[in-house]
Amino acid sequence: MTTPSAVRENPRIFASTRLNYTQIEEILDSLPWNAVCMPQTAAYARKEAEPMANETITIVDNRTNQTYTLPIYHGTIRAMDLRQIKTGPDDFGLMTYDPAYMNTAACHSAVTYLDGERGILRYRGYPIEQLAEHCTFLEVAYLLLYGELPNARDLECWSEEIMAHSLTHENVKKFMEGFNYDAHPMGILISTVAALATFHPESRNVHDPKIRRKQIVRLIGKMPTLAAYAYRHRLGLPYVAPDPDLGYTKNYMNMLWRRLEPKYVANPVLAHALDVLFILHADHEQNCSTSTMRAVGSSNADPYSTTAAAIAALSGPLHGGANEEVLRMLAEIGSKDRIPDFIQQVKTGHRKLMGFGHRVYKNYDPRARIIKRVAEEVFEVTGRNPKIDTAIELERIALSDDYFIGRKLYPNVDFYSGIIYEAMGFTPDQFTVLFGIPRTVGWLAQWQEMMEDPERKIARPRQVYTGEDKRDIVPIELRTPKTPLVLA
Ligand code: CMC
Repeated sequence: MTTPSAVRENPRIFASTRLNYTQIEEILDSLPWNAVCMPQTAAYARKEAEPMANETITIVDNRTNQTYTLPIYHGTIRAMDLRQIKTGPDDFGLMTYDPAYMNTAACHSAVTYLDGERGILRYRGYPIEQLAEHCTFLEVAYLLLYGELPNARDLECWSEEIMAHSLTHENVKKFMEGFNYDAHPMGILISTVAALATFHPESRNVHDPKIRRKQIVRLIGKMPTLAAYAYRHRLGLPYVAPDPDLGYTKNYMNMLWRRLEPKYVANPVLAHALDVLFILHADHEQNCSTSTMRAVGSSNADPYSTTAAAIAALSGPLHGGANEEVLRMLAEIGSKDRIPDFIQQVKTGHRKLMGFGHRVYKNYDPRARIIKRVAEEVFEVTGRNPKIDTAIELERIALSDDYFIGRKLYPNVDFYSGIIYEAMGFTPDQFTVLFGIPRTVGWLAQWQEMMEDPERKIARPRQVYTGEDKRDIVPIELRTPKTPLVLA
């Protein structure tokens, strides 16, 4: 019988023992890795958002002729400072109205820096181009979560720990089997990630940094496993157990594509391309899914439910679901000669050019530039995906057209990624899953940061009420419907 200490000395022993899931989890809990390479809580160097001397704004309320001087913090005024601006004691005070948060900072964050006007993206200060060239995904995951790049020993511990958590409880497979053969993998992912909370009930204790950290490594470890199960479920293939020896990306490929060979051997070029794509997708500051993560997490919901909500936000075609839509659009366009007609449809408002435009980037998305280069490396192995030529021509025509120039619409991360995924053998419905695996790291880094933020409160926006004034109920027999009900 394998003893816990034997397992502790050699984590790979998991592969050959008869330990049940709970016993494995207990051993993982007692491993010394936490102390060796992970601080219990991330010591984020959060620059204090104190007002700079003389940085103020003076507002005159023309309703009352009163003047207010408000401090400016990092180019921002606090919305709560506006509350003092009132017409009288019964007035609630001034609010800002900003649907879709077009011009509202909802948090301080030290994770990702994005300058959309200049097309700059940095994780913890490191340019995305350097990270994509010199680091592995798990190195970048460590960086996002802990603020610094790991040294060789820390990276080894971190990788071992993440890989040890790639295992899931056997019951996960059972409820996976309950999905229809053609269930969309994002639907499967949302549900299975949420269900993990029931396997790890201690995750509800979100105030304990040690417990939080445990769920973070679990989630990062299990995401590729759940994604691969969803993939194979669709194809009617048996699930492949994780092989921790292979490392994060190659193991994911193993769980996707292994057939009967005793040991999966990943193509190194494709594995590297996938790893780079994971790095590029790992975080993107306060986008729709990350804001969802923060909003749901602010209620102290467990991180599995919170991450499931973020995955749901990601699935929409205006966000992560765009990569799937780009492929469908390119398939529909078919050949280069049909591009001008398609562009015309976009300009007349009948279509959207999917994979173009961004709330923040008003310049070329730096990730799209890297992905375009990676695509050529992948095609050396897989053969050229002809859709790349349609996409390049589409980009050329769009970027010389006043409609796109005037609106500063450039290709975003989703424009070229699907073409690579398709060349690798993924079907379009898997593309957003491939976005969700690495973005889980960003969501968790932002969630962790939020949990440690002294200013954290439950997210609860205000509204501008535009409904009826107070009115009294009319007895049901006297009510006349405003619009007749039509029962189809
Ligand atoms: N095709 C055609 N016109 C567009 C597009 C597009 N892809 N994107 C924006 N516009 C136009 C839009 O019609 C509007 O024109 P007008 O001023 O005449 O009304 C103008 O550009 C401004 O657009 P907006 O919708 O106000 O911009 P937004 O910041 O609210 O939306 C967006 C950003 C990403 C949702 C939008 O650009 C879009 O729908 N793009 C296509 C979907 C897509 O590729 N999403 C992935 C985003 S990047 C990765 C991620 O976050 O997941």
